[in-house]
Amino acid sequence: KMTQLLLLLVSVASAWGAHPRAPQDRTDLLNVCMDAKHHKAKPGPEDKLHDQCSPWKKNACCFVNTSQELHKDTSLLYKFNWNHCGKLEPSCKRHFIQDTCLYECSPNLGPWIHQVDQSWRKERFLNVPLCKEDCQSWWEDCRTSYTCKTNWQKGWNWTSGINECPVRAACHTFEFYFPTPAALCEGLWNHSYKVSNYSRGSGRCIQMWFDLAHGNPNEKVARFYAEAMSMAEPHENGPFLLCLVLMLLWFLS
Ligand SMILES: *[C@@H]1O[C@H](CO)[C@@H](O)[C@H](O)[C@H]1NC(C)=O
Ligand SMILES: *[C@@H]1O[C@H](CO)[C@@H](O)[C@H](O)[C@H]1NC(C)=O
Ligand SMILES: *[C@@H]1O[C@H](CO)[C@@H](O)[C@H](O)[C@H]1NC(C)=O
Ligand SMILES: *[C@@H]1O[C@H](CO)[C@@H](O)[C@H](O)[C@H]1NC(C)=O
Repeated sequence: KMTQLLLLLVSVASAWGAHPRAPQDRTDLLNVCMDAKHHKAKPGPEDKLHDQCSPWKKNACCFVNTSQELHKDTSLLYKFNWNHCGKLEPSCKRHFIQDTCLYECSPNLGPWIHQVDQSWRKERFLNVPLCKEDCQSWWEDCRTSYTCKTNWQKGWNWTSGINECPVRAACHTFEFYFPTPAALCEGLWNHSYKVSNYSRGSGRCIQMWFDLAHGNPNEKVARFYAEAMSMAEPHENGPFLLCLVLMLLWFLS
């Protein structure tokens, strides 16, 4: 009996080692914070979230200080200057603030977290399905403001400590650099967003803007995509569990 027990333990241990928890386990994708520069380790309530970030106060990945800082021009968070070609129109700027609130505060973007090899963060969002109206209004409100680049994630002149347009990048309207809403929302942060074909309220796309009085609509969206993704994953643990049960029966007999 003792040898049988040992054998059982050894095989369980090795099977366990060979089958680490699937990274795409559904619960791993829900209610999580990304491992990046300013994110909390875990989401939780933050009663005092500032201004445009307040929709996330019931459950957030950002600290209050982060929510305050990100409303400032050239915030200390990334020393990133939105006004690199003159001041953005206020109606345009509010979309960048909202985009940053979503990035820093949302605990509902787990299904789109990917590992990256960057000095300032270990993870990023990729292809978050942004509701088409949120992208459309961002583009419409910014088309008359100015910028000098289509991918804001790379290629700046950082010698002064703040991003400046590189010498050969001239300032033109957003409309010049981003001819369509998708060019803006998908190009800006190197495909962090993918413009969804779905509309706000559909439960199938992430809303950058929402009214907390009706709850956070993105919780349901994350659940939907997490479930879809875990169904696409093969259930590798099935054979392993069957084996475990058989061995237990054998041991108990
Ligand atoms: C914000 O506060 C948290 C703890 O409350 C701290 O760890 C973090 O460094 C602060 N961040 C900024 C940008 O000041
Ligand atoms: C970068 O900006 C500095 C001024 O801040 C300027 O002297 C330098 O020529 C710029 N370099 C490039 C490659 O744009
Ligand atoms: C853009 O994202 C892709 C992954 O989709 C990555 O391979 C590439 O290095 C990124 N490029 C920049 C400029 O950050
Ligand atoms: C997106 O929506 C348009 C118009 O509602 C429709 O014609 C098209 O088939 C949709 N595409 C997808 C991929 O669902």
